Amino acid sequence: MGICWGSPSPSSSINQSPVSTGNISSGVISQTTSNTISSGGSNVTNVSGNSQFSASSGGDEVFPSGQILPSPNLRIFSYAELKIATKNFRNDTVLGEGGFGKVHKGWLDDKGGSSRGGSGSVVAVKKLNSESMQGYEEWQSEVNFLGRLSHPNLVRLVGYCWEDKELLLVYEFMQKGSLENHLFGRGSAVQTLPWGIRLKILIGAARGLAFLHSSEKQIIYRDFKASNILLDGSYHAKLSDFGLAKIGPSASKSHVTTRVMGTYGYAAPEYVATGHLYVKSDVYGFGVVLVEMLTGMRALDTNRPSAQHTLVDWVKPHLSDKRKLKNIMDSRLEGKYPSRGAVLIAQLALTCLAAEQKTRPSMKEVVETLERVEAVNEKPRPPRVHASHNVASRYGQTSMNYRSPHHPRQDGNRGYQLPTR
Ligand SMILES: Nc1ncnc2c1ncn2[C@@H]1O[C@H](COP(=O)(O)OP(=O)(O)OP(=O)(O)O)[C@@H](O)[C@H]1O
Ligand SMILES: [Mg+2]
Repeated sequence: MGICWGSPSPSSSINQSPVSTGNISSGVISQTTSNTISSGGSNVTNVSGNSQFSASSGGDEVFPSGQILPSPNLRIFSYAELKIATKNFRNDTVLGEGGFGKVHKGWLDDKGGSSRGGSGSVVAVKKLNSESMQGYEEWQSEVNFLGRLSHPNLVRLVGYCWEDKELLLVYEFMQKGSLENHLFGRGSAVQTLPWGIRLKILIGAARGLAFLHSSEKQIIYRDFKASNILLDGSYHAKLSDFGLAKIGPSASKSHVTTRVMGTYGYAAPEYVATGHLYVKSDVYGFGVVLVEMLTGMRALDTNRPSAQHTLVDWVKPHLSDKRKLKNIMDSRLEGKYPSRGAVLIAQLALTCLAAEQKTRPSMKEVVETLERVEAVNEKPRPPRVHASHNVASRYGQTSMNYRSPHHPRQDGNRGYQLPTR
């Protein structure tokens, strides 16, 4: 989830007559809801809503493999229930930590209550840190976007808790954690993702974005990055974190104007420069993740020499040249990838990263291209890459499995408001 810092971007304060951003988070959690929570709440309740989202999306619109529900259909948890489920939010249940707060593993019993572990269904419980720069708005946005979206490539929001100052979100548990952990993590628990799995993850994530973009009122995800792509036990990818999601522009407009929020290294240049957010701004973020998948390097890494801090700026010239591409490929693949496939992914990345948003492909086109690449049955070549020639091998990557609150991540890959250039 992104964090909102500081004042609006210059573009939203000058006379841009911004269209309504259609943020479905505006005023949709009713007092009834909070009463239901305090009454103990393991019952299933709808969050009442009067959002533009419900009015404009047609409510029960059905998509090929997903749908937008007329209203969030979420279970309301009491704080006490989630305390039991996470063993009092014990440190050894922590799965990770982001801008919103820590994410704990939790166990619910089959009757809808909480279990002390070992039995029942497993969930991930995200708890707002009182010092977090994110808060109610992001929490509400998550409930109202994700709570209404149902698609195989979007993580399922099971329910939420709102008691006094405690804001929590309960998600389906994604066994293999985030793509970020797998691509950049180190240690015995992290295994190199083979080429075929990388493609599978990319296709899943692309389908999730394509679904969001294909709704009648397009949804702009705004925070597409490796840490927001979660993986189940079979490396099936699902997008999480809708705290920054926005309804797309109305028919007469090409963009929405917002405060510039997102994550350094992933945000599209036009958005950073002007605050104008396009559906195609998400496509740029997807292009960045394509490059991360090819190279095994982070979108932003200040441990690299300064000219190489921003991955895309650094490697873009290598993407269009087959020979140069080899030098930037992830050394952990040990050359086990089809070179034709890698070239096609690099070409796709270049189109997604086009400076002019209009020329970027749609996510539907991206899905089709990726499916074609996957279908190409090219045998991987035997390992030929020498570690000393490989740029990726020159930089150590630290484990991202769990960031202690005492040692917060300094990599800049967390969502926050971006300063304009
Ligand atoms: N549903 C889930 N199942 C399993 N692990 C999860 C789940 N949700 C989050 N996690 C773990 O918790 C970590 C932190 O997630 P979170 O979304 O809070 O932060 P982030 O994506 O790293 O940063 P940001 O605050 O910018 O979104 C993830 O990287 C992942 O390892
Ligand atoms: Mg996240």
